[in-house]
Amino acid sequence: MFRSSRILGIDIGASSVKLGEFTITSAGGLQLSNFHWGELGLEGTQEDNRGPSIISSVQQLLKERKIRPGPAVISVSGQSVFTRFVKLPVVEEKKVLQIVKYEAAQNVPFPIEEVVWDYQLIGSSDAKELEVVLVAIKSDIIEELAKYVEKSGLKTMLVDVATMALYNAVRYNYGEMEGCTLLLDVGARTSNLIFIEKQKIFSRNMPIAGNTITQAIASELQLSFAQAEDLKRKIGFVGLGGAYEEPSSEQAAKVSKIIRNVMTRLHAGISQTMNFYRTQHGGTAPVRLLLSGGTCIIPYTDQFFREKLNIEVAYFNPFRSIDLGPNVKKEELSKCAHFFGEVVGLGLRQMSECPIEVNLIPRSVAFRKGMEKKYPYFGGVAACVVLGLLCWVMYARTVAKALDGQLDPLRQRVATYEKLARDIDREYKRYVEVNAKMDQMKYIVNGRTQWIEVLNTLNECLPDKLWITKFAPQVGAAAAAPRRERPSGGRLVRDPEAGMMPHEEERPQEDAAKPVKVEIIDLEGQGLNDISNEELKYKIVRDFVERLRDTPDMFVVEKGKEDDVFKVTPSAESRRVFNYSIKLKLAKPIQVRP
Ligand SMILES: Nc1ncnc2c1ncn2[C@@H]1O[C@H](COP(=O)(O)OP(=O)(O)OP(=O)(O)O)[C@@H](O)[C@H]1O
Ligand SMILES: [Mg+2]
Repeated sequence: MFRSSRILGIDIGASSVKLGEFTITSAGGLQLSNFHWGELGLEGTQEDNRGPSIISSVQQLLKERKIRPGPAVISVSGQSVFTRFVKLPVVEEKKVLQIVKYEAAQNVPFPIEEVVWDYQLIGSSDAKELEVVLVAIKSDIIEELAKYVEKSGLKTMLVDVATMALYNAVRYNYGEMEGCTLLLDVGARTSNLIFIEKQKIFSRNMPIAGNTITQAIASELQLSFAQAEDLKRKIGFVGLGGAYEEPSSEQAAKVSKIIRNVMTRLHAGISQTMNFYRTQHGGTAPVRLLLSGGTCIIPYTDQFFREKLNIEVAYFNPFRSIDLGPNVKKEELSKCAHFFGEVVGLGLRQMSECPIEVNLIPRSVAFRKGMEKKYPYFGGVAACVVLGLLCWVMYARTVAKALDGQLDPLRQRVATYEKLARDIDREYKRYVEVNAKMDQMKYIVNGRTQWIEVLNTLNECLPDKLWITKFAPQVGAAAAAPRRERPSGGRLVRDPEAGMMPHEEERPQEDAAKPVKVEIIDLEGQGLNDISNEELKYKIVRDFVERLRDTPDMFVVEKGKEDDVFKVTPSAESRRVFNYSIKLKLAKPIQVRP
């Protein structure tokens, strides 16, 4: 049982969909507030298009009767459900499930993980045993059906089995009846037999029903299924044979005979099942037959079974104890009441404890419902988290306020220290600058002593027959520039203190900011020429260069390249002297300006 102010009961049969809208009355009874039904338009065992037909049919029923979509209880017809009545030894209640699980695995003809199954303990005629009804359906079938229902805009709350819904409807409407009652539901593809005796139930289904009749007419009269169906509804009745008058039309006579044949087969099946029920399930022979299902409307069906079974036969009225809402048209309802038993049984699942409350809800729907139930908890948890955070925020604010007063003296001290830090920083920068300048000055001072060393080295290396006329230090780029007539790096000024600096006006403007370094020294001079041996002058200059090369701490002259470093030219003034020039690279460039 579950509670809902309004519920839709939908019986999805092989050939038609029946829909009822129920509400609970103030007195606690069930009221039918709206109903409708429609055919699926499928022929015989046709399974194609079943899904779209169900969806469009349900949607159309809702639309035509202006029924709001909502939570729905659906039933699946007996033929797709595996039903088994199993006897168990009397055991403790907690062990029942264990045994039933075992029985289910043994009895259900599919792997148990591929089915949705349920069970219920039912009354037994023998006190020494328990009787259980097991119902199972293939998961894919029920998942698909639920999908169609949901696609039509409804919410599946519960999935009942058509026979169990019918049973509940009989028990609710008729109460406990004397003796055994047999309910015969003859639908399109299946006939359901339900034996109702005190608290006991036993059911079976047979594949002989309305479609069997239509198929037989179509075969015998060479008609299509649709033509045969039409003929069955228009002129069909159960031929009673014997003393009864034959119909005037030959076709009607043929159809009635065909229907009688099918009904006779049905009767045979019923007799067999009655025997089985009596012998195997300790039941007694039915004392009355209640007819239901679309096929039972065929004229003389009741009489046929009355004669055959020789018991009281009546049409099942599922609305016997149900209130009818103001919008329900009784006349219209009376025309379809005989196949609305399942729908009433479905409506009953919301209002009272039903004798049988099985549920074949597919796992996906059960999961969704489970989650929906948890939504309020999720909300609660979320609210708790938010509340917790708020508490923390408030706590933090209060603490911050309390500490704020203590912070003022600290802030003042921090300000004093920050000013001190700034002063120290400024002084440190100044110290760094001064230090840098001192380094430069040191460098320059060192450079000046270097000049003396350069001159001393030159002097020491200078051969007797040579003298220096020009000593021209070359600065940076000028040093790298090709040898020119007049070096751009500056000219030699004889005063060593002032003259070692390249002349200010000749220093390239863009280099003004850069430290100035002397890397090359251009030497020019003259030597005494030995007229008898002109080659000697080269040797003298070469000796000079080689001596200079032997002072690698002072000058760099690559070995083997001594001849590239000097030039010897004759003097224009006298043959007794010659000119020479040497381009000398300093091993340590000398900085001459910071
Ligand atoms: N007026 C009528 N005369 C004869 N047969 C009819 C008439 N109306 C409906 N039927 C038959 O009733 C059957 C449908 O009955 P019902 O709606 O109870 O079946 P169902 O629930 O769709 O199928 P099932 O129970 O097998 O799943 C069809 O075979 C249809 O031919
Ligand atoms: Mg049916």
